[in-house]
Amino acid sequence: MAKKKILVTGGAGYIGSHACVELLQADYDIVVVDNLSNSKTESLARVQNITGKALGFYQADIRDRTALTEIFAKEVIDTVIHFAGLKAVGESCAKPDLYYHNNVYGTLVLTEAMQAAGVKELVFSSSATVYGESTSPQYAEDFPLGAINPYGRSKAMIEDILRDLSAADAINHESRPWKIALLRYFNPIGAHESGLIGEDPNGIPNNLMPYVSQVAIGKLVQLSVFGNDYPTPDGTGIRDYIHVVDLVKGHIKAIEALDGDGFAAGGCRPYNLGTGQGYSVLEIVDAFERVTGRPINYKIVGRRAGDLAECFANPDRALQELGWRAEKNLDDMVADTWNWQSKNPQGFA
Ligand code: NAD
Ligand code: UD1
Repeated sequence: MAKKKILVTGGAGYIGSHACVELLQADYDIVVVDNLSNSKTESLARVQNITGKALGFYQADIRDRTALTEIFAKEVIDTVIHFAGLKAVGESCAKPDLYYHNNVYGTLVLTEAMQAAGVKELVFSSSATVYGESTSPQYAEDFPLGAINPYGRSKAMIEDILRDLSAADAINHESRPWKIALLRYFNPIGAHESGLIGEDPNGIPNNLMPYVSQVAIGKLVQLSVFGNDYPTPDGTGIRDYIHVVDLVKGHIKAIEALDGDGFAAGGCRPYNLGTGQGYSVLEIVDAFERVTGRPINYKIVGRRAGDLAECFANPDRALQELGWRAEKNLDDMVADTWNWQSKNPQGFA
């Protein structure tokens, strides 16, 4: 059977470009739709360089109904992987309308275009940020939801919409039901081992790993460690960092699972994509210094609003139902981040 054709929204971005590499290497045909609001076509040129394979590209906004309708008319798409979205928590607090319009409305236009074209297989980029307060730091998919900022709420709203679309299939006696995997990412870091693609944040990074690597390369002077008075062994925050290549392999497993027995009657199901292992901020700094031999200048400052002490995945469901588990360790994540950063000090510019 010929491999499927996958439409990848946001495919020029950090995670999307890594997904394109894995998809092409697994012999899928791919078409990328990206408005380049947070990426450059250079990433896609490098994807083709790494794989020696071509992909289709449309510079379009997912909110542009006409453009999407034309793309679905022209390309025979089997499955959509939906990465396109805005992702900066701070910006989402300042411009919530922009986030709801881009992420939530954009997804509605996409699902309408899919439905009109009869494409009903979707893998969605959700986030661990949809989880609410919990008594355990190890989050399982059935834990209560309760995002605390507009970015997180945009992801939670999209999850709700997709669950409702799927539930409506039974009421409408749909012969071809929606098959939807909601992938809740923990903290993706690292880069492709070639060093040709990686994370290229706009301006000063918000997230820990790109900040640390820019201190190491000398672009930034000092890391601020947000709090050392958390109830964790060294007092700094603990997160579940996952190598971006492991993460995107989870998407391929999800596409395969949508064709399997578990989704035979359709459905919409969340899966955590994390390693199940947490590391503190100071453990990340130590690992970076050890693996790269570069000193990381840091100072302890106050806590960042909205941060949890500790958050890591229970990844059991993804193992049991998708046959996926993360394979790379922290040293791999650090080495690949540094390989990308040192070979591309200005990112894709
Ligand atoms: P990214 O910004 O590098 O990639 C997103 C891509 O989507 C960019 O290329 C951007 O130009 C494109 N895009 C944004 N809005 C668009 C629109 N309206 N129409 C078309 N294209 C649009 O981000 P990323 O880190 O690769 O994240 C990908 C997805 O994963 C996002 O949905 C994000 O919310 C989610 N996610 C990311 C993380 C993370 O830490 N990176 C964690 C959890 C979830
Ligand atoms: C952040 C987002 C979350 C998003 C995730 C994506 C917030 C509040 N949350 O989560 O919605 O899904 O990124 O990966 O922004 N840290 C420092 N100094 C820094 C940066 C971070 O000490 O300069 C610490 C943080 O306090 C935290 C850890 O490093 O303990 C990881 O931070 P970060 O990379 O921003 O990820 P999250 O906070 O998990």
